[in-house]
Amino acid sequence: MIKFVCAKDYDEMSRKAANVISAQMIMKPNSVLGLATGSTPIGTYKCLVERYEQGDLDFSQITSVNLDEYRGLTHDNDQSYYYFMNDNLFSHVNIDKNNTYVPDGTIADADEACKQYDAIVAASGGADLQLLGLGHNGHIGFNEPAEVFPKGTHCVDLTESTIKANARFFASIEEVPTQAYTMGIQTIMSAKKILLVASGADKADIIEKAFFGDVTPWVPASILQLHQDVTVVGDEAAFAKIIDKI
Ligand code: F6R
Repeated sequence: MIKFVCAKDYDEMSRKAANVISAQMIMKPNSVLGLATGSTPIGTYKCLVERYEQGDLDFSQITSVNLDEYRGLTHDNDQSYYYFMNDNLFSHVNIDKNNTYVPDGTIADADEACKQYDAIVAASGGADLQLLGLGHNGHIGFNEPAEVFPKGTHCVDLTESTIKANARFFASIEEVPTQAYTMGIQTIMSAKKILLVASGADKADIIEKAFFGDVTPWVPASILQLHQDVTVVGDEAAFAKIIDKI
């Protein structure tokens, strides 16, 4: 079942998404949180940090498993997702960093890196709540449009549209890594709950396609229509094309 929560703007979307994560943490203090990077969840992480600072949230028993990482970026590279997570969340709350996991982009052997990460996710028991952003081409994690839905962690060649979208964070487009390790669709779908956040008019088309179009690996997020517990928190701009249907 998909529940749509429409927010006025980015800030309200962030607060509402943080509400869902906070509720999960309060109801189950030792939750496994599946986490995402990208621009969209930055405000959500900021809200979580504020609530931690106010004494309302406790991360001490939380385990986190991130969706993806660029292949080849070291942990101290400020564009690595490892760096992003520390910078935006982990360094500001009382999470035990030994319980935070991001696919290891420094492992050159892709099969080994993916095998190791699948074992980590399996050992964690899987995500109680998986946070997702949404790519303009419908990707979730870095599961790009393809002929089939990939199952476990795998190495992907990023599409041109993803490389272009991510170039804004790098000095030049040539510096954007062309490959990433990402959790697979089966792993994402195994999360007990899913929370997808989307903001801005540029996401309106893909929100409509993903949640009201056909379920197809050419729009990877469309598989979420088959999950039993999905909450989509979006702002009015991102929901512009679905507002009459929800
Ligand atoms: C990030 C990730 C990606 C992003 C997506 C949207 O860990 O897995 O799927 O969620 O590319 O990115 P933004 O939020 O920057 O539009």
